[in-house]
Amino acid sequence: MKHTPSWIPPRGAAHLTAVSHRVDAGQRAQRHGHGGGVIWLTGLSGAGKSTLAMALEAQLLQQGYACYTLDGDNVRRGLNANLGFSPADRSENIRRIGEVAALFADAGLVCITAFISPYKADRATARAAAQAIGTHFAEVHVAADLPTCEARDPKGLYRQARAGQLREFTGIDAPYEPPESADLVLGADHESEADSLARLVAFVTSRHPMC
Ligand code: ADX
Repeated sequence: MKHTPSWIPPRGAAHLTAVSHRVDAGQRAQRHGHGGGVIWLTGLSGAGKSTLAMALEAQLLQQGYACYTLDGDNVRRGLNANLGFSPADRSENIRRIGEVAALFADAGLVCITAFISPYKADRATARAAAQAIGTHFAEVHVAADLPTCEARDPKGLYRQARAGQLREFTGIDAPYEPPESADLVLGADHESEADSLARLVAFVTSRHPMC
């Protein structure tokens, strides 16, 4: 049965009036030295999203960027601790993260996200959340394939899923819908982690140049 948390009000709830900020994006960019945006990493578990996201965050910070990584395994311990891995819960997971990432970006940060985000429609919702407030959004596919991720199996979860001890595991008995037109594709064809990171850093710094 689909689980839909009951306390979430419908989108566009009535009787709300948006409050305008007295600070605009230009002033925030001046303060931080660059514009904000969302760098959305998607891919299978074990593809290397978290490793790349955290390494990107460290390199950007070193270069003076205001940035922060939202990671699935971390966010699911707090904000999204009430969500599991059913299709409905994954959608709600990504909806919330899309909204939070857009807020970080609106605040002027480069917000990096590392979530499997297996459904195209949910990733489109995350993009729309960023675009709705006029901030940049880039989809980055960390494209290591299933045999590669399963061979790595850094958390032993593929083994458990194959043994039937873990249900609805992405790539085994739950789907992953790869992006058809990602803004950047990394990690395919045995690209080294260092090469992926270098391309990712170059991509982000060219989209968000220091002013
Ligand atoms: S998502 O599908 O909703 O985007 P998310 O990125 O937040 O997933 O969380 C994925 C992480 O949760 C995986 O890296 C893995 O460590 C853990 N996990 C636990 N159960 C599952 C499952 N059934 N499918 C995928 N990942 C799972």
